Amino acid sequence: MYSRIIGTGSHLPEKILSNHDLEKMVDTSHDWIFSRTGINERHIAGENELASDLAVPASRRAMESAGIEADEIDLVIVATTTPDMLFPSTATILQSKLGIRNNCPAFDVQAVCTGFIYALATADCYLKSGKYRHALVVGTEVLSRIIDWTDRSTCVLFGDGAGAVVLKSGETPGILSSHLHADGSYNPILAAPGRVCNGKIRGSPFVSMNGNAVFKIAVNVLEQVAEEAMQANRMSPSDIDWLVPHQANIRIIEATAKKLSMDMERVVVTVDRHGNTSAASIPLALDHVAREGRFREGETLLMEGVGGGITWGSLLLKW
Ligand code: COA
Repeated sequence: MYSRIIGTGSHLPEKILSNHDLEKMVDTSHDWIFSRTGINERHIAGENELASDLAVPASRRAMESAGIEADEIDLVIVATTTPDMLFPSTATILQSKLGIRNNCPAFDVQAVCTGFIYALATADCYLKSGKYRHALVVGTEVLSRIIDWTDRSTCVLFGDGAGAVVLKSGETPGILSSHLHADGSYNPILAAPGRVCNGKIRGSPFVSMNGNAVFKIAVNVLEQVAEEAMQANRMSPSDIDWLVPHQANIRIIEATAKKLSMDMERVVVTVDRHGNTSAASIPLALDHVAREGRFREGETLLMEGVGGGITWGSLLLKW
């Protein structure tokens, strides 16, 4: 038994914040941002728009492209670092907004930018065991809420958005392997350490990051986890048709592709149009290429991500 992606969808908020807009907000330039990160623009959610609000249109598009109705979904998993509220989970809020009334399980997964990989790997375990038939797996973020817009070292990097897939269990291959990792000793290099305590926020609620340290670790673990996935499936880079990496930074993506000797034509890049949208970035990138009809049935995709924790992981699958 396998689980297989049968539909994708995504949604970006209407408001665009370009690099030139950022030049008016902090001491930066389009050239600095674009040459260091490959980012051109990012989308920013409206004041009252929550992670679940971005997830609704992304999920509807994924269900529409899968050709299934809301009540056929029997598992909802949402990966997010910016949930609507402390509780209930964003997954249950999304379940309600989508009108899924079959009492199926719904829960959130928090692995920051690796969240979508963790969520998809979790759904895969349930589906290939035969327990559920259709899973809705979503990555959705309103990161703009936890960014200090006066800190040029972080505010140029992140954006808001959502991406979703519908997974279906069956005999056709699908997801061939997942590999998940974490090393909590790296917690401090990328964090939003604030916490709610007696009605007040204690500590900074904004993203703080040691950019250079994150960069080096990201390139190393992304190479390692790609090698691990290929070895487990007795594949080499020439067997991979598409690399779908976490969209954080073009230089991290290019360095990983180079280490794997993969031609950039086989690497999905959308970071220019939405920046780092954390758990939403991989499904956003996936939906972009899927909608253009560029993935062919039976092609092999390698997805990989890295994020706060630090966490990292991969999924190798047949389209
Ligand atoms: N605009 C202009 N200058 C900036 C700037 C900005 N937005 N942000 C930082 N700078 C300055 C720094 O102050 C520094 O100036 P100094 O030399 O006078 O001290 C200079 O640019 C170089 O800073 P540095 O941090 O060494 O730049 P970098 O080349 O390492 O690029 C990042 C910084 C953040 C782009 C890079 O480290 C990176 O991509 N890290 C990974 C981030 C990431 O992807 N995180 C999420 C992972 S899931």
